[in-house]
Amino acid sequence: MSPSLEVRQTRVCGVEDVPLNEGRVVSINERPIAVFRTDAGWYALDNTCTHMGGPLADGMVADESVACPLHERRFELATGRPIGHECGAVASYPVEVDGDDVLLTVALLDSGPFEVEDAQSVIEAEANGSSGSAPEGSQAESGVAREVEDGRAHDAPAAVEGR
Ligand code: FES
Repeated sequence: MSPSLEVRQTRVCGVEDVPLNEGRVVSINERPIAVFRTDAGWYALDNTCTHMGGPLADGMVADESVACPLHERRFELATGRPIGHECGAVASYPVEVDGDDVLLTVALLDSGPFEVEDAQSVIEAEANGSSGSAPEGSQAESGVAREVEDGRAHDAPAAVEGR
């Protein structure tokens, strides 16, 4: 029996968890995904740079792209495509905002229940491990996955599975 691909939309964080023109990491089934907020909208890419694994959520956001903080290779926020370099694309995910909730659509093989670690959890973990500043009063609940309802799901991203 072949494995089935399951597409779901899930809340990953609150709108206030992601400052404008920055990224934050969420985790779905232990897969780190960078969520970005820009003037033009919301985007989500795999957090792991295809060059040498740099954390894209910590990169500089400009011109609808993000530059990896390690060696400044850039990727399109909308598609994950590399800009001006030969490294592979990073997977991108549809993002939707519903009120104060940021929702990601992801596809996983035989996923079972989604385990979501939201941006607030990641921020709190970072704050506990360093003397960095606290997030700006956000109130993200721990992520609870919900299945995609008919008509709300996006098409599955083309490259969800590993590179
Ligand atoms: S690890 Fe991202 S550019 Fe090198």
